[in-house]
Parts: sequence; structure tokens; C-alpha cells
Amino acid sequence: MNNIDKKDLPIAFFDSGVGGLTVYEKMKKLLPCEDYLYFGDTKNMPYGEKTKEQLIEFADKIFRFFETQGSKAVVMACNTTSAITYETLKNNYKFKIYPIIQSVSKVIAKSDYKKIGVFATPATINSHAYSKEIHRYNNNIEVFEIACPEWVRIVEENKQNQPQSVIQVKEKLEEMEIFNPEKIILGCTHYPYLMNLLKKFMPEETFIDPSISFAKFIKEDLAKENLLSSKTILGSEKFYVSSSPENFKHAGSLFYDIKELPELTIL
Ligand code: DGL
Repeated sequence: MNNIDKKDLPIAFFDSGVGGLTVYEKMKKLLPCEDYLYFGDTKNMPYGEKTKEQLIEFADKIFRFFETQGSKAVVMACNTTSAITYETLKNNYKFKIYPIIQSVSKVIAKSDYKKIGVFATPATINSHAYSKEIHRYNNNIEVFEIACPEWVRIVEENKQNQPQSVIQVKEKLEEMEIFNPEKIILGCTHYPYLMNLLKKFMPEETFIDPSISFAKFIKEDLAKENLLSSKTILGSEKFYVSSSPENFKHAGSLFYDIKELPELTIL
């Protein structure tokens, strides 16, 4: 299929849960006339605690599902799968794939910062994907990576206001403060949901939410590839989760108001 025929196919997104909505929301504002698919793999969440083999299996099934739906591009709106599965799977499908870490590290590497912190899931941190990708383009930036194993569950289970969650967030910020970074990347798409809590302890400007530059990067790349939709009316959207649709709707409501959410077992 050539790009003229592909143009009007949907752009698909996936994440382990509501985290990818932080990217989706920005994309939808930038490109409202595109059609979209979103898959939240809530049954297998949290991805940050899974093995490479498991993550490859989940991602491959999700890519295959999007293939059956006819997608022109798939956005890996999940740092963990981008870090662990992208290299293995990137040439296996017919659509364009946008992995978050590899896409935004190029942009971050162009900055003048000398010290950057990264908060991410244990799997992302153990892979050192952020430091490797940033250093690929710029070796003058020191990168300090800290895993935050509890944070995804705080978001998915809506526990932002519980005293235990406040302690878990504060502890990680104190750990990071020792390195005195100029900026801290929220290297898991779930973490921007914690901004109200994070900014109690550090100024909001300290944090980089990669979803902003990621959405811009995707738009520019689709334009370059001549893959932007020719439609001029508001596009459609379809959301799917692999379990707990009500929980997903509720937890995700900070970033997006989802109307319909069928449960879909593909994994
Ligand atoms: N939101 C995903 C990420 O960006 C996955 C988090 C998880 O399920 O552990 O890494």
C-alpha cells in the first residue's frame, strides 16, 4: 500500500494503562482530524516489573492487533516497551513505529543542560535507555537515573492523595536532589499524573514531560512522510483495554474523558 492510500488509516497508541493518554491528549490537540486507536494493556500492568520476553510478547500481540485494524503508524506511548522491545520488534510490521524514548532523547540532547535526572520504571532504568539515547547525540550531559517502582500503581489505583503515596514520591525526589539536576525527565508516561504531588516539593518547571515534544515530533514526521490525513472533519477514536474498563476511565479522566470503552482480550 502506498502513502496516498495509507494517509487516512488511523494512528494507533498503546501503553500498559492510562499513561499513554498523556501523549494521546497532546496528539489529539495537534492533529484533531486523524482517526485514532488506543489500547491500554491493563491486564498486564505494570510493565516496569516484567521481563524482556514478556514485554516482547505483549508488544508483538498489540502490534498484530493494530495490523488487523489497519493502522498507518503505531505510537509506543510507553517508555518501558520503547526501552526493552523496540530494537527487537522495529522491523516486523508494515506501519511506522514511534518509540517515545528514542524520539524525545534526540530533542533533549540538543539542550544546553549539563545535568539531567530521569525518573522511570525499574525496567526502563535497568536498561539505561535514556542515558544511552541521550549520549548517542550528546556526551556532555550527565544523566542520573532513578527507578520509582511504586508510582505507576499510585496512578492506576488513584492513590495520589494517600499519605503513603506522598511519602513514596517525596523519598524519590530527595534521592534525586543529591545530584542537583537542572531538569528531571518524567520517563514513564504515567508520571505526569503525579504533577500536583511533585510540585509540592519541587518547582513544576523542573520536570520535563516528554509527551509534549513527542507529539510534535510525530506530527512533523508524519508530515515529512506524507502520511497526514486528508480529512478536514473531527476524526474518530476507539479505546480498548485488556481488563478493568471502569478503573481505566476513572484513573484516566485527568487527561482524557473517554466515552466508550470495550474490554478486549487479545493477550
Ligand atoms: N507508562 C509506561 C511507561 O512509560 C508503563 C508503566 C508500567 O506499566 O510499569 O513506562
